[in-house]
Amino acid sequence: MELYLGLDVGTQGTKGLVFDVESSRVVARASCSYDLIAGLAPGAAEQRPETWLDAVGAVAHELAHALGPAWSNVRAIGVSGQQHGLVVLDENGRVVRAAKLWCDTETAQEARELSEKLGRDVPTGFTASKIVWLARHEPANWRRTRHVLLPHDWINQRLTGEFAMEYGDASGTGFFDVRARRFDADAVAAVDDELAAKLPSLVPAGEFVGRLDRDGAALLGLPAGVPVSAGAGDNMASAIGSGATRPGVVVASLGTSATVFAYSATPIVDPRGAIAPFCDSTGAWLPLLCVMNATGALEDVCVAFASDHATLTREAASEPLGCEGVTCVPFFRGERVPDLPTATGSFLGLRPGLLRRGLLYRAVLEGVTANLAAGVERMRGLGLVVERVRVVGGGASNELWRGLLADALEAEVETQVENESAALGAALQAAWTHERAARKDLLCDAVASPHVRTAGAIVAPDPKRAARFRELRNRFADWVVRLHGSG
Ligand code: XUL
Repeated sequence: MELYLGLDVGTQGTKGLVFDVESSRVVARASCSYDLIAGLAPGAAEQRPETWLDAVGAVAHELAHALGPAWSNVRAIGVSGQQHGLVVLDENGRVVRAAKLWCDTETAQEARELSEKLGRDVPTGFTASKIVWLARHEPANWRRTRHVLLPHDWINQRLTGEFAMEYGDASGTGFFDVRARRFDADAVAAVDDELAAKLPSLVPAGEFVGRLDRDGAALLGLPAGVPVSAGAGDNMASAIGSGATRPGVVVASLGTSATVFAYSATPIVDPRGAIAPFCDSTGAWLPLLCVMNATGALEDVCVAFASDHATLTREAASEPLGCEGVTCVPFFRGERVPDLPTATGSFLGLRPGLLRRGLLYRAVLEGVTANLAAGVERMRGLGLVVERVRVVGGGASNELWRGLLADALEAEVETQVENESAALGAALQAAWTHERAARKDLLCDAVASPHVRTAGAIVAPDPKRAARFRELRNRFADWVVRLHGSG
C-alpha cells in the first residue's frame, strides 16, 4: 500500500482519511465535530485553535485504530483548513486568543475602512480586517502577537515546528499579491505597520513544509520524520480532490458556506471584487465565489422544527417551485456576495397557510440557490465557461438541491464518488509532493485526477423549470435590493 493521510480542519469538524494510491481507495476515514464558541457578540464567529488540534489527534487515533500496523506506513501528510481564520501566537508559539473565522462579521467596519484605504474590495471574511480589529480592540493581544498564521498553517506548525504560509491560503488574507505570489507590501503596511514582522515565510505548492517533529508524531501516533506537504485552504484542497486541477471542471462545494470555483492557468481578478482571485494550491489560480449562507441556513430550519434534513427535503420536494410566492433571503449570518456582512435573513410573501415546514425549507434552498446563481452569472461574465458543475460537500447528496442547481445555473450537475473532496485533496497533494521529489516538473493534475471519479447520473436542466427559475431569480434580486439597497 502507498498511504497518504489527508486532514480537513473545517468549521463544523475535522475529517481525516487515509488514501491508498496503489489501489486508488480510501482505506480509512474518521471525523470529529465541534462548534463555534457560544455567547459571543453579534457577528463574532470564533473557535479556539486548540479545539482543532484536539480533533486532529482524535481523528488520527481513530484512523490508527482502523488501520492497525499499516498506519505507521503513512508516507506523507497533507492538511486542509477553513480559509481566512486569524491564528495569533506569542513568542513561545502559544495561542494568544481564539481565532476569528471566515464567517466572523464583527470586523465589517474595519473591512470597509481597509477597502477605502486600498481602493479595492477587501471582504469582511478575509484575514486582513481581523488584524485591524485586533490591533484596535485588543491592543495588548496584538502587541503580544509574534506570529500570524492561518488555520491549516497552524496545524502544520504544530505537526512540524515550522512557521510558514502556503500560497493558496495566503491569497485569502487580503494582503497577498496573487500575480507575483508574495505578500503585497503596501497592503501589509496598510493593515498594520507591525504586521510585516509577524508574517511567516511562504511555501510554494508542491513542497514539503517540514517533517513530523516529536510533538507532531506524538499527536498523530506516527513516527517522527513523516513529511508534511504545504497543505491548502479547504477550497484549494477541495479543488485538488474534485478534479479542478485542469481547465473545464467547475465545482460547487455545498457546505457551511457554498463555493463555486474552477482551475485557471492565469489569475482572474474581478474588478468588482465579488469573485475572489485566489491562487490554488497546485501552482495555478482558483477564481472563487463564496456565499456564507448555505447548509447553515438549512440547519437553522431543522433546528426550528426539531427535524432533520432528510425529512424536510422530502417535504420540500412536494412543495411547488417558487413556494407559492414565498421568498427567503437567507442572509442569516450576513453575506459575502453580495457584500452585506451585517445583513440579516428574511422570509417574504408569507400568507395564511404557508407556514409549512417543507415550504420554508424549500424557500431557503431556493434562496441559497438563487444567490449562488447570481454569483455564477458574474463568473460567466468574467469569461468562465460553466456547462457542467460537479457538486461536492455535505449538500451534494441532496437530490432536490442538485435538480434546483441544474435549473438555476442552467448547467448539467454531476456528483463524484468521494464527497469529502478537501480531505481527499489534502491526501493527494501529499502524494503529489512526495512524487515530485523525483520529478520536479510533475503536475498535481497528473497525480490527483486519476483518483477523482464521478458517480451516478448527470442531472440536466429542464428548460421549463429553468425559465421559471429565471423569474425566481429576478424576484429574489428585487427583494435583495428592496431590503438591502444593493445586490
Ligand atoms: C472561502 C470561505 C469559506 C471557508 C469555509 O473564501 O471563506 O469557504 O473556506 O471553510
